[in-house]
Amino acid sequence: MTSQAIPMTKKNADSVTLIDNRTGKSIDLPLIKGSAGPNLIDIRQLYNETGYFTFDPGFTSTGSCNSKITYIDGDEGVLLYRGYPIEELAEYSDFMETSYLLIYGELPTAAQKKEFEYSVVYHSMVHEQLINFFRGFRRDAHPMAVMVGVVGALSAFYHEHTDIQNPGEREIVAHRIIAKIPTIAAMAYKYSIGQPFIYPRNDLPYTENFIRMCFAVPCEDYRSNAVITRAMDRIFTLHADHEQNASTSTVRLAGSSGANPYACIASGIACLWGPAHGGANEAVINMLKEIGHEKNIPEFIRRAKDKNDPFRLMGFGHRVYKNYDPRAKVMRKTCHEVLNELGLQNEPLMRLAIELERVALEDPYFIEKKLYPNVDFYSGIILRAIGFPASMFTVLFAVARTVGWIAQWNEMTNEENQKIGRPRQLYTGETRRSFVPVNKRK
Ligand code: SDX
Repeated sequence: MTSQAIPMTKKNADSVTLIDNRTGKSIDLPLIKGSAGPNLIDIRQLYNETGYFTFDPGFTSTGSCNSKITYIDGDEGVLLYRGYPIEELAEYSDFMETSYLLIYGELPTAAQKKEFEYSVVYHSMVHEQLINFFRGFRRDAHPMAVMVGVVGALSAFYHEHTDIQNPGEREIVAHRIIAKIPTIAAMAYKYSIGQPFIYPRNDLPYTENFIRMCFAVPCEDYRSNAVITRAMDRIFTLHADHEQNASTSTVRLAGSSGANPYACIASGIACLWGPAHGGANEAVINMLKEIGHEKNIPEFIRRAKDKNDPFRLMGFGHRVYKNYDPRAKVMRKTCHEVLNELGLQNEPLMRLAIELERVALEDPYFIEKKLYPNVDFYSGIILRAIGFPASMFTVLFAVARTVGWIAQWNEMTNEENQKIGRPRQLYTGETRRSFVPVNKRK
């Protein structure tokens, strides 16, 4: 018995019809088709025409904006930055070139790349007054708390270039924040271990400069390792942008009010910190340490499946990917490269991670719910092998994602009829009631 389909007339061809079964009234809602991905139902007139809101906590079925920057096909495990597959950028490009691509929309010519790198490196030093902000933190403060504070403090500097309606000034903001975020991140690390800050050098490429600021000391020359630098650079590329994830949506929402762009980036850092989002890489390492040995894997898999147990397999699952996260595949390969370079092939946590992944991917619960390793599952093992403490993992994610945040902020700010974001709600609280004087309250 086939259901009685609504006759498809020209009127309906590019729309869906919503019928209110209580009143029998119907409304045609236009369908919007992008260059790829599912169609969207344009509900902008819904409330005006029906008096109804939509209800979608967590925005699982809601498109919040129009963007040309990153495309994800979660079912196929596809991630494109401005149309280029993440696997090809990770293999053949580098983080600076990918940053240019995300911001300007095209891969740079050799001259454009050189000019972009020059501009970034010459903005990499921070104002000397900014250093004072670190002194207020305890040495054991979480580096992400320091990042939120110090990056937010950047909004108290550079007043000369914050006319965000001016594309040229937005470009300076983008170059400045991309340049200064690694310097501040390295300072947050140095501060946490009680070592002196290392200033950036104008003769070093972006990622090599960052690693040197983290691991060099004034007492001796620092020798970088090309394999480690390439791995770190690739990790930055993999984390640079990811469509409208929680922290990017936070930056867009903060920016939609016209707020200071550095303060908007600080709001993205705050959101990324959560273990359900960018904090997962730190949580993966803590989870692997808690599991401790392959023999304990079955118990933790059982706990991950138990609805009454809050334990989740960190680094597994994703709101969009219902297939292997393409970044996780590149991360796994990079993990082996770094461990081989450092002679850590038998690193216990790596062995444990590989076995945990194998067991989970064969388990019916994970198969049925399409839970695969995500970008965070292997990144922590690489970063730990390079020498970063787990508390720095999300900071490194923030260094990379700052490029995506500022590219998305720039795209939003550049929109013609950009509006302030202001969602509505389902109110379930008390309806109107009169005030009761304190001597009459029970
Ligand atoms: C990032 O959005 C992005 O793009 C983010 C990101 C980016 O680049 O910006 O990709 C970076 O944040 C990656 C995700 C890192 N987080 C983790 O690894 C934490 C562990 N993962 C989960 O917390 C979870 O998978 C989320 C938060 C990532 C996604 O959660 P959703 O989309 O809200 O899915 P859900 O919680 O509704 O889960 C669906 C089902 C649930 O079971 P049921 O209620 O349907 O019975 O799957 C279960 C969940 O219980 N589930 C898990 C699980 N993840 C989901 N069960 C065990 N272990 C897990 N990891």
